[in-house]
Amino acid sequence: MLPVDTATTEALPGRSGNEKIARLLHEIEALIADDEAADRQITGGWQTFGDILAAAHTHTWDAYSVDLSTDAESFRGLSRRQQEAVKRVFGTIYRAESIVDDWMDRIVAALPQEPKYEAMRAALMTQEHDERMHRGSLLRVATEVLGIEPSAADRVAKKYNNFVAEILFDRFEVEMQQLLRPNRPLEDVYTAIFIYGVISEDVVANSDVVIRRAKGNALYDVYHLPGMKEGQTNVRRDEGRHVRIAVLATHRFLEEYEGAAERLLGICSDYMDLADRMVRRAKASHGLIDAHLAESYGPDVDSLYYYVMNMKRLAVRLDELGLREGVLEVKRRVDATISELSGDNGEPIVETPNRLLKLVGPRMLRLAGASRLTS
Ligand SMILES: [Fe+2]
Ligand SMILES: [Fe+2]
Repeated sequence: MLPVDTATTEALPGRSGNEKIARLLHEIEALIADDEAADRQITGGWQTFGDILAAAHTHTWDAYSVDLSTDAESFRGLSRRQQEAVKRVFGTIYRAESIVDDWMDRIVAALPQEPKYEAMRAALMTQEHDERMHRGSLLRVATEVLGIEPSAADRVAKKYNNFVAEILFDRFEVEMQQLLRPNRPLEDVYTAIFIYGVISEDVVANSDVVIRRAKGNALYDVYHLPGMKEGQTNVRRDEGRHVRIAVLATHRFLEEYEGAAERLLGICSDYMDLADRMVRRAKASHGLIDAHLAESYGPDVDSLYYYVMNMKRLAVRLDELGLREGVLEVKRRVDATISELSGDNGEPIVETPNRLLKLVGPRMLRLAGASRLTS
């Protein structure tokens, strides 16, 4: 049972429109529960960093040998519109892998040299290897399947990524710079691992994977991209292991530092503030951001769907870490957001932007940049 659920639906006013929201919440809960169950089948027995190290050796794979020739042929046969859809998926995952890869070696380097951190360092080093390879595997997709020059991969990925993800990446970058500065205290390294593994890899990136899997009409199957599917299946398994590393490290943080719980709850409140602001701004954009998200994720994914998926995933993780106060805060915020952003009859508001706004809007929003949504 997920921690936030039933009370959320009970708190809604009215009845008829409630059903639609209740259906949406139920669908999100079921998707998270399925994903958790699948993950647990693999990760359930891992209690220590040593277990994770052993699993990393068992699950090792070679992204550089995955055959992408069928994918390249399939991609050439797609319509332009279909090719754009594949590029949007590529954009988000390539950007995410690049940004985490940029910071992983710094996290490893920042751990103390003492023997009691050896096992944690060894586990994190397997992740460092994984992130480098994940990025490399997507660079192969860019060049061998999508026909993008290696030097243009970053630029193209940014262009096709959705801007909600870009805003989150900008914030991640700033946080890592601050927390992993030279001679930082260990509390800051632990905090960086929590933001990296729990918020970014699990709450944000795994929500993205779950939504796409449910709503993206199984793009890899429909467009016959078996190499990309094989690669991303292995990546998802690795990511489950990375989240376990962050959860174990966070347990250590909570044991070692008295103020750890307050610090983590503060980080989560800041993240929830951002999410609350973003979903409200999205709903105030006259359908523009919803249309942008639907383009990226599938027809019925609006900003509220994206928001609830992220928040509920956060609640699951906080519950697991014993941070009950955070779970209750998520619940309060999701309740408030749903009642504020539902129409009079309790239905989710999804506007369709007019043609002009649709044409100039994405460019306008990109130019306005993160400040529009984050402040
Ligand atoms: Fe990764
Ligand atoms: Fe990862």
